[in-house]
Amino acid sequence: MNNCKIIEFNKIGDEYGGYLVAIEDNLNIPFDIKRVYYTYGVKDNKIRGKHAHRNLDQILLCLNGAVKVKCFDGYEEIEIHLDDPSKGIFIGSMVWHEMYDYREDAVIMVIADDYYNESDYIRDYDEFISLCKEVNS
Ligand code: TYD
Repeated sequence: MNNCKIIEFNKIGDEYGGYLVAIEDNLNIPFDIKRVYYTYGVKDNKIRGKHAHRNLDQILLCLNGAVKVKCFDGYEEIEIHLDDPSKGIFIGSMVWHEMYDYREDAVIMVIADDYYNESDYIRDYDEFISLCKEVNS
């Protein structure tokens, strides 16, 4: 999928001494970082996300616990099981994404290339589908 892919971060260390992952904008993150936010304490029956962004690029990391992420670009759908803090998902613009099956201890950190802006969200699924059709026509 063009605008959605797994990023494997380099981890320094080993299972005995623990691991260190460094995140550096424009080196292992493909943009300037403007915002970092995180979610935690999400109930396992809750579905978060359920939107796409018009312009925002983001990378999701599961720092603790596990979560499933479904991404749909209007053409292809992929499901990713995020359960490793050295693995991230790049979710670019115009990708509908949903996070679900949160493990109770899941901490999801998101790194974004812009500030929070509600007008960048597409929260209506039918609107997302028609915008995808417009782009592809
Ligand atoms: P939302 O992006 O819908 O969260 P999720 O995708 O995890 O379900 O945001 C939830 C609420 O938090 C919404 O009211 C907007 C607000 N919010 C901010 O104020 N700042 C932020 O950086 C983000 C991501 C959300």
